[in-house]
Amino acid sequence: MRKKIVAGNWKMNKNYNEACNLISSIVDGLRNSVISPEQLVILAPPFPFLEPAVARTEEIEYISVSAQNCHSEEKGAFTGEVSASMIRSVGATHVIIGHSERRNIFNESDEFLAKKVLAAQNAGLIPIFCCGEMLPEREKGIHFQVVEEQLNKGLFHLTQQEIKKIIIAYEPVWAIGTGVTATSAQAQEMHKFIRSLLIKKYKNETAENISILYGGSCNAKNAKELFANADVDGGLIGGASLTAQDFVTIVNSF
Ligand code: PGA
Repeated sequence: MRKKIVAGNWKMNKNYNEACNLISSIVDGLRNSVISPEQLVILAPPFPFLEPAVARTEEIEYISVSAQNCHSEEKGAFTGEVSASMIRSVGATHVIIGHSERRNIFNESDEFLAKKVLAAQNAGLIPIFCCGEMLPEREKGIHFQVVEEQLNKGLFHLTQQEIKKIIIAYEPVWAIGTGVTATSAQAQEMHKFIRSLLIKKYKNETAENISILYGGSCNAKNAKELFANADVDGGLIGGASLTAQDFVTIVNSF
């Protein structure tokens, strides 16, 4: 059975004290929630807050901590970069790879992302691999092709065993931080398409066990409707993950 996941991508927000307060408020807020054994909550704060996030959530089985990025090499002369094994060494278990902001602002190519996915897995991290089309691509009707190509180039080099340790996030770029959410039908249509690609490339059973998250202006109001779709296994939440109450409401939206 695949996991139901809500992951909070804090992006470049919060200072140390604010981060610690947000983690504590989320932990407190979730204390009164009924979290089923197949649910997982992931917090993805900026690098300097990974360690306090791990320390504050260590005893809570259903909370994991993720980085927002990693480099493809394990160590060396890459000033300013952080390796997957460094992230793992502070206790984080996941890493977001291929977010559209990394692809578009930092020009990260599919080939580079493919290397990062392997580096993350080699270090024992579970990649949360992001894909999604830009607005002109959807308007041209080529959104399925775009997502298929991103998966083919960035993810489908993985073996049958490796792909099992992956979370996929579909994030249409036109919905990220814009307040415009994909409709429930648009999300389900793309998620089903992604699962069909997984079925074609890997075993049926493998594809059925991979969680596919929706991201892009998912919030406390629309999460329930989005999560009700058969192939939407949760969300990757940006803006709404910065407020404990909203984030907790989203976690409780299954
Ligand atoms: P948003 O961001 O929820 O603020 O749209 C989602 C994301 O970029 O992961």
